[in-house]
Amino acid sequence: MRIIKTDDYEKMSKEAACLVASEIIENPKTVLGLATGSTPLGLYKELVKMYEEGKIDFSQVTTFNLDEYIGLSNTHEQSYHYYMNNNLFSKINIKEENTYIPNGLVVDVDETCQIYEKEIDEKGPIQIQILGLGENGHIGFNEPAEQFSKNTGEVVLTDSTIEANKRFFDKKEDVPTKAVSMGIATIMKAKKIILLVNGAKKAKALKAVVEGEITPQVPGSVLQLHDNVIVIADKEAAMYL
Ligand code: GLP
Repeated sequence: MRIIKTDDYEKMSKEAACLVASEIIENPKTVLGLATGSTPLGLYKELVKMYEEGKIDFSQVTTFNLDEYIGLSNTHEQSYHYYMNNNLFSKINIKEENTYIPNGLVVDVDETCQIYEKEIDEKGPIQIQILGLGENGHIGFNEPAEQFSKNTGEVVLTDSTIEANKRFFDKKEDVPTKAVSMGIATIMKAKKIILLVNGAKKAKALKAVVEGEITPQVPGSVLQLHDNVIVIADKEAAMYL
């Protein structure tokens, strides 16, 4: 793992944007794996800025998002579809048909997950997978468990994740309790992984991910087994490293 410590959130976002932009410039048909949550918002802002300045072209880029809540429509303000459209896709020249996000409103979740996994295999490999980190060490929506999850599948959110994400909803009861998420094995298939972590709240989880035992109780610790991971953390998140 390569660790880049930055002074603040803005610098973390800029470092990540430079890495993503270099990849797109080198390979205009690149496939990106994208994350949601508050952590990558700064990265997306930087990418939009670079696009507006004519530095990057998304016309041939394909994206796969990590996860989506089950039960929220694509237009629900807290759905990850809405988030991606609002924060990135509507502001750049990416083709809608090249943006993949799991559908959280399907009847047959298993079938949808299998199709999503197949699409990643067909269009992939994902060249850069962006990840955030949950306070409990989760990546995507892969929660602490007895075993590392494999492919894209349905997950039940832990109380800690619901608690952490309730800030985006009117009340805790509105946070969906289930999601569709790329599995750990899906994430590990990416050629390069960029883990973004900011804020003191994530410091313990980051230490466990980077320096702790590799265990499904800390899902992000599996990244120690990947040969091309770049962790970009601001100084608060990196304080125990
Ligand atoms: C969420 C998402 C993850 C995200 C993480 C951290 O629940 N499913 O993809 O990386 O938790 O979120 P945030 O960046 O808002 O702290």
